[in-house]
Amino acid sequence: PTLFRTLQSPQRRQFTMSAVEEAKRAAAKVAVEKHYPKDARWVGIGSGSTIVYVVEAITNLGVDTSNTKYIPTGYQSKQLIVNAGLMAVEYDALPLGTVLDVAFDGADEVDEDLNCIKGGGACLFQEKIVALQAKEFICVADHRKLQPRLLTSWKSIPIEVAPIAAYRVVQKLKELGSVNPAVRPSASVKEGPLKTDQGFFIVDAPFKPMLIKADIEAGQDGNGKDGVWAVEVLARKIKEIIGVLEVGIFHGQT
Ligand code: 5RP
Repeated sequence: PTLFRTLQSPQRRQFTMSAVEEAKRAAAKVAVEKHYPKDARWVGIGSGSTIVYVVEAITNLGVDTSNTKYIPTGYQSKQLIVNAGLMAVEYDALPLGTVLDVAFDGADEVDEDLNCIKGGGACLFQEKIVALQAKEFICVADHRKLQPRLLTSWKSIPIEVAPIAAYRVVQKLKELGSVNPAVRPSASVKEGPLKTDQGFFIVDAPFKPMLIKADIEAGQDGNGKDGVWAVEVLARKIKEIIGVLEVGIFHGQT
C-alpha cells in the first residue's frame, strides 16, 4: 500500500501527508460536522493524534466559540485547546453539576459493539471522567481501529494504577489470564516508569481477544475460561483490583 502521497495542488506540492493522517483528519471532520452543537457551551477534548484534527475541524466550522469552554483530558489536550485560541477549563474547575454538551476523543481499537480500548497515550482516567460527564461521547476512529473484537490488532489493555500497588496489580492481572502484563516504561530508561497526569503508572495487560454480545448470545462463556473474557466482565474484574484507578476499556456507560 502507498503510505505517502504528494498532495496535488501546486502550492502544496512540497508537502506530503501520510494516508493514515488523511484518514484521521477525514474522520475528525465528519465527526465534528455531524456532532458539534453550534451553540455548545461545554466541550470535552480528548488526547492523542486524532484529536488534533478534531480541534482543527472545530476551528474550521466557523461557529462562535468565544463563549464555549473546552475541558481537556490531559496536558497535551490543554496545549492543543490553548494553541487553537480556545478557552480551556480544567475538569476540577467545572461548576458542580455541569454537563458537557459533547466530548470528543480518539480510540486505540473499537469493536462491533462500539466498545473501545483507550489509554495508548496514557490519559485514560481523565478521558473517562470527561466522557462520562458528557451528554454525547463521540469517539473518532479511522478505519484501522475497527476490529471484530477488542485486542485483535491492539494487543493489551492499558490500566492506570497507583505506583505503590503496581506489582500487586500485575500479579492479579496474571491471575485473570494476562500473559506478561508490564509497567509501561517512560521514553528514557533513566526516568523509570512512565507517569500519567495523575502521577500514576500504566500497566499494559495483554489478553486474548474479548467476546462481544453476539458471541455471548451464541453461547460462549465470557467468564475467563481459558483466559477468554467478555468485554464488560473483564473491565469489571480489572476495576475491582485494589490499586487500579481506571481501566482503558470504554463500554456502555463506563
Ligand atoms: C490516549 C488515548 C487516545 O485517544 C488513543 O490512544 C488514540 O490515539 P490516536 O488518535 O493517536 O491514535 O486514549 O490515552
